[in-house]
Amino acid sequence: MAIYKLIPLCFILFSSIVSWAKTVLPEPIFALKDTANPVWAARGMVAAPEPLAAKIGLNILKKGGNAVDAAVAIGYALAVTHPRAGNLGGGGFMLIYLRRTKKMIAIDYRETAPQATKVKLYLDENKKPVADRTRYHGLAIGVPGTVMGLEQARVKYGTMKRMDLMKPAIRLAQKGFRLSYALSQSLNQAATRFKRFPQAKHVFTKKNGQPYRPKEKWRQKELAQSLSQIAQYGTRAFYRGSIAKKIIQTVEKYGGVMTLEDLAQYKAVQREPVQGHYDVYDIFAMPPPSSGGVHLVQLLNTLQHFPLADWGHNTAQTLHVMAEAMKYAYADRSYYLGDPDFVQVPIRQLTHPKYGRYIAKRINTKRAQPSIKMSPNRSFIKESDQTTHFSVIDKDGNAVSNTYTLNFSFGSGLVAEGTGIILNNEIDDFSIKKGVANAYGLIGGKANQIAPKKRPLSSMTPFIALHQDNVFLVGGTPGGSRIITTCLQLILNVITHKMNPAEAVQAPRMHHQWQPDKIQVEQSLSQDTTALLDRKGHIIQVQGAMGDAQLIMKNRNGLWGASDPRGYGVSLGY
Ligand code: DON
Repeated sequence: MAIYKLIPLCFILFSSIVSWAKTVLPEPIFALKDTANPVWAARGMVAAPEPLAAKIGLNILKKGGNAVDAAVAIGYALAVTHPRAGNLGGGGFMLIYLRRTKKMIAIDYRETAPQATKVKLYLDENKKPVADRTRYHGLAIGVPGTVMGLEQARVKYGTMKRMDLMKPAIRLAQKGFRLSYALSQSLNQAATRFKRFPQAKHVFTKKNGQPYRPKEKWRQKELAQSLSQIAQYGTRAFYRGSIAKKIIQTVEKYGGVMTLEDLAQYKAVQREPVQGHYDVYDIFAMPPPSSGGVHLVQLLNTLQHFPLADWGHNTAQTLHVMAEAMKYAYADRSYYLGDPDFVQVPIRQLTHPKYGRYIAKRINTKRAQPSIKMSPNRSFIKESDQTTHFSVIDKDGNAVSNTYTLNFSFGSGLVAEGTGIILNNEIDDFSIKKGVANAYGLIGGKANQIAPKKRPLSSMTPFIALHQDNVFLVGGTPGGSRIITTCLQLILNVITHKMNPAEAVQAPRMHHQWQPDKIQVEQSLSQDTTALLDRKGHIIQVQGAMGDAQLIMKNRNGLWGASDPRGYGVSLGY
């Protein structure tokens, strides 16, 4: 017999051995990803926290959709594939750069407090805040903004039909997909909370009440139905139709005061982005009701007065000065920042380069000042655990930086009955009582006090850096109060310390938020460094990973993307 006749047989044999080996060989627990090098592409790129959603975004770019189209498709897809933070029942912020018109746009689709909100609803008989009511209760839920925000972005700045952008998400929810290790782990971690709310248990655990395991197929029929209605009828379906009714039924059942009118009246707001300058770059980020942009720019304005590049990345000297600058920023945050539709936020003063210099002069480069001595600066005016982020750049140089959230992982844990939609607990971001910390240890005062229709203060910091009107960096991260400082480090790592995006995203992180008076550091930071910081008078708290950053850099050689090795995302390009 001629030997070539054996080729098909050998092929079949080889394939069978490979399939058999796949079933018996142990799988790596953590997905392996290329973090040593940034991913490169020539035309368009997405960096997102979950691979299926990232792929959907990439396909939209390949089909000719722009960055906004891709972002909207990713936003809906993450509500299906990354339910701990991707959402329809939460809110967020989207920063858009349109290259042709050189326009930077900030869309605020943050949740609002219901009309019937009253501070006393959140206090016990001794006037003490009851944490459960801002976290796992009908009262914890803010009027959701995501559907309005994504649709507003699409209508004004996208190019594709709503149905075409939502179809991939609907298909994933309808037909189901196999659970990754990361998703099954996140569902298991929230199992105790799901037990408390039967609707969440119904959606997020198997029929027999057992948790889903990696590789098992997960269908979300009710969510598919909700998504289809939104795709067909637009925002009306969510804010006025049967979905609205179901949301309110659930909220009421669990003691909340949100009404159909609150949903019908919800508006996303287009705002003026916060702008600063660092090195040769123009930095743009979200204005209030996020504190992210204001303090990112304030920190950069302060830190540019120190030779950080000479001192070196993550040396004790550099980290000391960063921590001192952060204390000033978070002290100001606690006093000044709130919803700009309710309180006057001195954005111009806080982000003014002179104010950065003023703070820099007060920083002692040798010793840590106790936070208690760094109260918010009230004179300058007279003198002069789960969110998610994705970044997109398209072939025409447009960009989207989007961070959105349910607040905690899986929000309040409440699912609007029959919709598959998990609801946020964003109300915990208000300062219910002066001096009482929220879940992220943040304290606030009057400016961030809860009031009807007000938006709670956020730390979400989607940012875009431009160089001569061209996109240079697009990034952001989850991480509660640590979002601002993580974004600061991404920018410093690339611009000051000349790292590529993968290095910048991977480098050990630190954080200081004024109160508590501690530097939080990741355990990968050298112990020699923490010992030196200790000698300068800092209290060090070593802790787990901070954030899940998604960063894309564009230079004349193309696009370079990096998805945080702390998470399970990817950057994909073409
Ligand atoms: O808006 C905020 O600042 C918070 N609700 C963000 C929460 C968050 O990042 C949780 N993720 N780790």
